Amino acid sequence: MRIVAFSNQKGGVAKTTSSYAMAVGLARRDYKVLVIDADPQENLSMTAGIDLNDVDPDPEDIDKLTPEQRRYFLENVPAKLFEVMKGEKDINKAIIPIADNLDLIVGGIDLASADMTFTGIKREQLIKKAFKKLKKDYDFCIIDCSPALGVVLMNILTVADEVIIPLEPGAYSLQGLSRLYGFIDDIHDYTNDKLKVNGILVTKVRNTANSKIWINDIQEKAELLGTKVYKSRIRLNVSVEEAQTMNMDIFQYSGSSAAARDYDDFIDEFLEEDE
Ligand SMILES: Nc1ncnc2c1ncn2[C@@H]1O[C@H](COP(=O)(O)OP(=O)(O)OP(=O)(O)O)[C@@H](O)[C@H]1O
Ligand SMILES: [Mg+2]
Repeated sequence: MRIVAFSNQKGGVAKTTSSYAMAVGLARRDYKVLVIDADPQENLSMTAGIDLNDVDPDPEDIDKLTPEQRRYFLENVPAKLFEVMKGEKDINKAIIPIADNLDLIVGGIDLASADMTFTGIKREQLIKKAFKKLKKDYDFCIIDCSPALGVVLMNILTVADEVIIPLEPGAYSLQGLSRLYGFIDDIHDYTNDKLKVNGILVTKVRNTANSKIWINDIQEKAELLGTKVYKSRIRLNVSVEEAQTMNMDIFQYSGSSAAARDYDDFIDEFLEEDE
């Protein structure tokens, strides 16, 4: 299983959009894919059509249930990554099938407090330990990271093979990138020497002269960092938000849209790089 994390501490750069498009695109190419929504915002799960009231309800709502309802609920609701990290639940109980070849694990809103919860020694090994118990075989695991550089990201990068960094061209797009690289370098040195940055994916691209200037900047910075920038770029395209509004993936919503074609090209490029 090849584990790919989409990470950037900058918000709104299309981490969620890209990780979901990649997971769906790979599943449509007949690969077996597990996608993990490791962001307490749970945007990916929502886009995937998960009803979070059922899967990750407010604890106050659970308190309102009768004891029988509560027992039924606790036995049937899928586990969240947070509970798996805590060692309370089995990772195999967290898997939710969402489409042909595609399963999802929801991180859980509690991931927002992970830095306060996981403070012990080897706290970066919790997801890796859980993955060893995974019964089902997957070709790819795609992980959507939150913008935070904390214990959840430490866990993800400790188990991941590679990182893809989505970047939106703009005045502040490179801000924070050096810190992210520092974080990745530390994980590489201390907990996961196979980890590498696979590449930078330029997203939300406008066809303007200004955008071209920023893309050049990204390319120069990538060269300095020894990282490639994917040739495929994802154009800014209204179909992305429309698809999310409809809880559909971009290929299902409009396979001929600019974004669907760009994500298809990107996935082809990603798959070709090892050939
Ligand atoms: N190619 C695109 N064209 C138009 N809008 C896009 C595109 N990609 C992403 N968006 C929009 O940009 C916003 C941010 O995207 P997304 O949620 O994927 O970013 P993110 O990096 O996951 O954000 P966060 O840091 O909050 O997790 C969303 O409203 C999404 O619909
Ligand atoms: Mg996101």
